[in-house]
Amino acid sequence: MTKTTIINHPLVQHKLTLLRQVETTTAQFRQLLKEIGMLLAYEVTRDLPIKYQQIQTPMKLMEAPMLAAEKKMVIVSIMRAGQGLLDGILELIPTARVGHIGLYRDPSTLVAVEYYFKVPHDIEQRDVLIVDPMLATGNSAVAAVDRIKESNPESIRFLCLLAAPEGIEHFHKYHPEIPLYTAAIDEKLDEHGYIIPGLGDAGDRLYGTR
Ligand code: URA
Repeated sequence: MTKTTIINHPLVQHKLTLLRQVETTTAQFRQLLKEIGMLLAYEVTRDLPIKYQQIQTPMKLMEAPMLAAEKKMVIVSIMRAGQGLLDGILELIPTARVGHIGLYRDPSTLVAVEYYFKVPHDIEQRDVLIVDPMLATGNSAVAAVDRIKESNPESIRFLCLLAAPEGIEHFHKYHPEIPLYTAAIDEKLDEHGYIIPGLGDAGDRLYGTR
């Protein structure tokens, strides 16, 4: 089983605490989630392969490192809340391609129901990072990875901000080989599938729809 990586960088942890607070406004929440997206992207892309290319500086020729991937990464956002992380990630990796999966949780069964799916046509030649701030039951994450696996990309990794232990277990049960990154693992889920202590409904807080 692939282990879960906890990104416990002090800046991420500080911003996450601000994000959790009930008095944080929609505008602050959006800005913080974007900033955290940037920081998480920095950590998640740590092991991307490098190639050396000859360049000319104002002083001399040199062999300089650049990302090796011929094809750009694909960031797949699970809507709606994934958009908040996506915006920050794209600040850092502006050449990435973007896919979207629309999933909502059936409120009674908590099962993930797909309502939208659009990814780059050549995704099978690309590395995919799926993003959703909240890994709660894990149903949406598992459904998103299932769907992306159908396209057979070069690689898949999953990034969230907050995870419940139940969600992590569920995710690893169905996709044990997929690397999972999170900034924190909270206590538990409540009876409605919300993460405790969590931060509430990430989509509502991002868009002010509470
Ligand atoms: N989705 C959210 O936005 N918040 C939770 O706590 C769980 C799922």
